[in-house]
Amino acid sequence: MRPKVASKIPTVVELQAGEYWWCRCGLSRRQPYCDGSHEGHDICPLRFEVEQTKRVALCNCKCTREAPYCDGVHSSL
Ligand code: FES
Repeated sequence: MRPKVASKIPTVVELQAGEYWWCRCGLSRRQPYCDGSHEGHDICPLRFEVEQTKRVALCNCKCTREAPYCDGVHSSL
């Protein structure tokens, strides 16, 4: 499947150190994180780690080339 554009606005959030699963399919109702809605599709979430607290912009359009982080490509969709 092609990823669905969940939103053209990234989620700006301060993440604590830890492990996260970014939704790559765009179907999750917990954007930008995976909620298991990809099951039955040929697409999987992206696991990423944050080593220390930091403010990030997580992609919601699912077209970024720097997943899971926003690279600004949503502005050209
Ligand atoms: Fe989208 Fe899991 S719900 S990758």
